[in-house]
Amino acid sequence: MTGNRPSELDGLKAKHRTPHTMEASAPPLFLAPMAGVTDLAYRILARECGADMTVTEFTAASGLTRKNTYSWLKVESDPRESPFIPQIFGGITEEMVQTVEMLQDRADVIDINFGCPAPKVCKNDAGAALLRDPDRVVSMVRACIEAADVPITVKMRLGTGSGPNTALEICERLEQEGVERVCVHGRTLRQRYSGEADWSQIREISESVGIEVIANGDVTDSSSALKCLEATGATGLMIGRGAIGRPSIFHEIKRDLGWTTSTPPWGEGGDAMARHWCWDRYLELAEEIYSDSPNKNLKRHAVSFTKGLPGASSMRVELHREGDQRKLGKMVSGYLAELATPNEASAV
Ligand SMILES: Cc1cc2nc3c(=O)[nH]c(=O)nc-3n(C[C@H](O)[C@H](O)[C@H](O)COP(=O)(O)O)c2cc1C
Repeated sequence: MTGNRPSELDGLKAKHRTPHTMEASAPPLFLAPMAGVTDLAYRILARECGADMTVTEFTAASGLTRKNTYSWLKVESDPRESPFIPQIFGGITEEMVQTVEMLQDRADVIDINFGCPAPKVCKNDAGAALLRDPDRVVSMVRACIEAADVPITVKMRLGTGSGPNTALEICERLEQEGVERVCVHGRTLRQRYSGEADWSQIREISESVGIEVIANGDVTDSSSALKCLEATGATGLMIGRGAIGRPSIFHEIKRDLGWTTSTPPWGEGGDAMARHWCWDRYLELAEEIYSDSPNKNLKRHAVSFTKGLPGASSMRVELHREGDQRKLGKMVSGYLAELATPNEASAV
């Protein structure tokens, strides 16, 4: 989604900008919940890079109600992550209600997932599989809202892909039930991540409801962000894969669209500088948050932060061999530092 003619981009930008209250009026940018990616350290990092909202990865209501330690670790937060929005999923209403009751002391908002396409989730009649039965979705959310002292939001796909899409009907009914906000990923369950997100169906939803609608799917830079806002009429955007290994995307979008004039934490440097700063900051936050326990996402982040960069594939072989997390962190840091250092030869 690149290659806009400047006049087209400028025209679109103007519609979404109020110069005097730029930051306040700009549509909020959300870091999408992503299992195995959006750990607490990464969510704080994304916020430092300009994300307005972050959500935990999806956490099973069955695990939380059974007091599974691993599930409870997923819903850890920190005062720097405010508001705190844990995301839960499940197929049993009573369990979802119990989870809401257990979580609401620590949560500012609770998000319910009706978007996960993973077979192990869908076979338990949870995640996106529930979209085939709007009555069940509505009654589950109604029960959660009745039990909750905090706002409930919902994230969903367009439908299951078998039979007509149900997201529009579900969003209209959820608005009546008192849902605070919906986020719609413009794909069906059947599509998983293939094809293009259908932003026009998100527009139908945002034109039919009065609550906040966050558009999600295929936003990867400022140009696609602007096009998505224009195509969907959404009140905000959620970015997933475009923010993996690239948390600086949030600042870049805001800067390019004129929503911020602030200097990012990595200073005036370009992409390489941003990557290096973000990686070191991730290590710092991870060290602080996980202290001596192993960080299960570190290797995955290391691969993402170096993807497509010169010499990255040979460095990655070494990276996979390295068992010591501190050494691994330093190896990637050294590699990114070198890329960020201006080459004296080319500077002459
Ligand atoms: C690795 C990965 C993990 C994901 N985990 C979750 C999750 O836990 N909860 C959720 O609602 N969506 C999850 N998603 C879906 C994303 O939140 C998002 O809806 C999807 O990636 C589309 O947005 P994008 O085109 O910006 O990536 C995941 C996506 C990816 C790639």
